Amino acid sequence: MKDDDELCICFHVSRRKVVQYIRVEKPSRVSQLSQCFGAGTGCGWCRPYLKQLMQQERPESLELPNAEAYASRRIEYRQQHP
Ligand code: FES
Repeated sequence: MKDDDELCICFHVSRRKVVQYIRVEKPSRVSQLSQCFGAGTGCGWCRPYLKQLMQQERPESLELPNAEAYASRRIEYRQQHP
């Protein structure tokens, strides 16, 4: 996933915005990322990824699936969690 790809697809929040928020605000809970343009407050698909980023010393270096795979797995997730 590239910096400008959407990490929270529901609210169109890019990976770059999330990483910047984590660096500046240093949230201790995933729910605090809701202050970052609503990230994580929709379908819930991105929350495990938000948590992984928060747990990294250097969140910008975490390997994430490419945008296409990420989006298509979210579609499967949404079918299982209507
Ligand atoms: S993709 Fe982030 S809440 Fe749905």
